[in-house]
Parts: sequence; C-alpha cells; structure tokens
Amino acid sequence: MDRVILTGIKPTGEVHVGNYIGAIKPALQLAEQSQSSALYFIADYHGLTFLQDAKEFSRLSYSIAATWLALGLNPEQVTFYRQSDIPDVFELAWILSCVTSKGLMNRAHAYKAIVDRNDESGLDKDTGVNMGLFTYPILMAADILLFQSNQVPVGKDQIQHVEIARDIAEEFNKKFGDTFTLPSYSVEKEIAVIPGLDGRKMSKSYNNTIPLFDSPNNLQKKISKIKTDSIPPGEPKDPATSSIFSLYRQFAMPEQTEEMRKKYMEGISWGEAKRELYEVMNSFLEGPRRKYDELMADRQNIDRILYEGARKARAQAALTMELVRNRIGRC
Ligand code: TRP
Repeated sequence: MDRVILTGIKPTGEVHVGNYIGAIKPALQLAEQSQSSALYFIADYHGLTFLQDAKEFSRLSYSIAATWLALGLNPEQVTFYRQSDIPDVFELAWILSCVTSKGLMNRAHAYKAIVDRNDESGLDKDTGVNMGLFTYPILMAADILLFQSNQVPVGKDQIQHVEIARDIAEEFNKKFGDTFTLPSYSVEKEIAVIPGLDGRKMSKSYNNTIPLFDSPNNLQKKISKIKTDSIPPGEPKDPATSSIFSLYRQFAMPEQTEEMRKKYMEGISWGEAKRELYEVMNSFLEGPRRKYDELMADRQNIDRILYEGARKARAQAALTMELVRNRIGRC
C-alpha cells in the first residue's frame, strides 16, 4: 500500500522566504514522490486557538492556501483541503480525548512553556490558556490518525506533537484493538539555516524576514538592508559566511551559483552581489507572485479547490471513522 504523508499548515502571519525554503519547498518535493499519497491541509481550527479576529482569520486562511498553490502545489497530486471542512476530525478529536490522560497534555512543551512563563511572572499558571490551546495536541492527533498517516513532515518544534499522536494511537489500539497506523515524524535535515536581514536565522520573531510576495520594489529595498561586513570591492569574499550567497544559491541554477562563487573570489562588491541576488530572486518569484495575486482576487476559486480536496479527504476519513465507531461500540 502507498505510504500516507500528511502535514498541516497553520495560518500564521505573512509567509517569508525562510518559510518557503525551510518548509514549503521540501514539502512540495516530498509530494512528488510517486510511492506515497500526500495530504496537506490548512489547519484553520488550530489557528483559532490564538487567532480570534474574524477578518484576520479569514484572510490568513486564504492567504496560506494561495501561497501553496502559487508555489506549485498541484491539487490533482496532493489532497489539499481545509481542516474545518472535515467534520470527522472533530468527532475523532473528542473520542481521542477520552483515551488521553490529562497528564500527557500537561507535559506538552507548548503548554508547559506558557505555564513556566506565567510562573516566572507570578501569575496564575493557566493565565492566557484556553482549552483549545491545552488540547491542541489531541486535535492534531485526530488530523494525523484520521488518515492512517505513516509519515508526518514537521519542523523541530512539532516533533513532540507527533509523538503524542503516536502515544494516543497506541493507547486506543491497546484498549479497543488494532485501529490506527502509528505515525512517525520526519524533519528536513539537509536544509541549511536561512539567514535573515541581520544574519540570524530568518524568523518572524526576530523581525528580520524577507516577505515572499511583496512588490519588486520592496523586495529590492529589503535586500539592500542585508547586513554585510566592510570588505571593500575588489577584495575576495567568503561565500560560506555570506547571507547574500546563502540566499542566492537557493534561487539560482547550480551553474549560476558556481559563477557567483567565482565572482566572490574575484572581489565582487556587496552592492553588486545584492543586485544579482535581487535579479535571481525576483525572476523566480515573478510567476508565483502573479499567481498569488490572482488567487487572492478570487477566493471562491480557492474555496472550490479546497472543497474538492475535502471531498476526497472525507471519503478517506469515512473509512477510518466507520472502523473507530465500530471499535468503541457505537453501533
Ligand atoms: N501544529 C502544526 C504547526 O504548528 C500544524 C498542524 C496541525 C499539523 N495539525 C497537524 C502538522 C497535523 C502536522 C500534522 O505547525
């Protein structure tokens, strides 16, 4: 049987170059493998644990869908859907919550981090914690187990959540008989850290990102802000320690990258290196940017695509739910 690869995408802020290189690009490559069926979904109701502004919730949900589609996700090849279009997820989440010990949730890193912060500030330990946030890992387990997923590609911060899903599956299987496939996480190891404008890892929390779908003008402005050292034009520069080079190679063809490496040895100026980075990034992003704008201008079209994905996903989900309901004796 095919391996099932599944991952959820939370609607967060504006997608940046680091998100693209670190998560989107590898996930799209993984989906191309013929031996697996891939399900990628917008985890909108996970977003609701922190995103409680109707306009923003809606805009970000569409924006993240449009981003993936614009970058080449093929809905014929990947089952691409919105979590909240699959009611079975929420029924399963309840059933799973009944076989999950509260202690397991108390030990989840994300929740514990908030409790620790509250402790340090002398606040009640559960200040700012809603029940959705507390049981977040159970909803995520339902996402994963509903489709009998084998492999769950995630960032490092989500490894524990996949392990929790596996623990919950084992617990259910032990109580009610073999039902769920035990999922494993996978993390991209090959991916280099993508430097932001200040040289640290590109991250929203450092405020050093390059947005993916900004105007060419703004892209150029951002690139001009990348921090460089004071080696003057004409003197050799080390590509290995250059943020400009790290970004360049992610968007250039291998031959272009080699060419650029030579130019570094020959003492290309930082201004020139930035100009070349802009050229290569902008020519890569032109197509997706146009596609993104088109998609965002016709949200009904996004709805249609996601709904078609949900139709396929619901058919799969129904099979698991029939088994689950049977196992628990809900006849
Ligand atoms: N929690 C994940 C994140 O923050 C998103 C997510 C929700 C997810 N459900 C999932 C990831 C299921 C993998 C599988 O990034």
